[in-house]
Amino acid sequence: MKFFVDTANLDEIRELNDLGVLDGVTTNPSLMAKVGITGRQNVLNHYLAICEMVEGDISAEVIATDFEGMMREGMELANLHDNIVVKVPMTRDGIKAINAFSEQGIRTNCTLVFTVGQALLAAKAGADYVSPFVGRLDDVSTNGLALIQDIVTVFNNYDMFTEVLAASIRHPVHIVECAKMGADVVTCPASSIDKLFNHPLTDIGLAQFLADYKKVE
Ligand code: G3P
Repeated sequence: MKFFVDTANLDEIRELNDLGVLDGVTTNPSLMAKVGITGRQNVLNHYLAICEMVEGDISAEVIATDFEGMMREGMELANLHDNIVVKVPMTRDGIKAINAFSEQGIRTNCTLVFTVGQALLAAKAGADYVSPFVGRLDDVSTNGLALIQDIVTVFNNYDMFTEVLAASIRHPVHIVECAKMGADVVTCPASSIDKLFNHPLTDIGLAQFLADYKKVE
């Protein structure tokens, strides 16, 4: 399972990349705003900086909601760097744009997916990734992980090319459960990946080894 980090923060991206566990990056307009990136040129420069830092797919989201606008923005993003994947929302115009991008060899990630039906539409339109939002479903008392399982099952039934990119990940259990279900990718905040390191028995064990070593030193 590939690990993407869901952030526009260059320090977080660099730190995870240096660990050697990072396969890509996803961003969205909220994450760009969070790090204070505004204005089209600054946004484009920021995407380029991420692409130069990480060897892997970088999802860059369109802001337009109409087909023509999505096509215009998506082309501009795709022309920035070979590793850019154009992130398009799950709407009628979005699906049409995904289909048009796919015919031109431009890779896409269909975002804001909350049902298997939406995932199927995105896959049929030719999306390279679908992004079901686990945490946001959990937030409304619906089992987000169950959606991942269902999409993985359906895509496997038909040997579909589209990859399941589990998004809106909130904690390490989400990550591990997605891996058990066979999700192709998880995109998570850096904090969730960081928490995978932690176990009190690891800390206790290491302290014990060091204490014992000192006894015989
Ligand atoms: O990038 C899309 C998704 O991962 C957002 O997550 O935590 O805002 O629901 P969250």
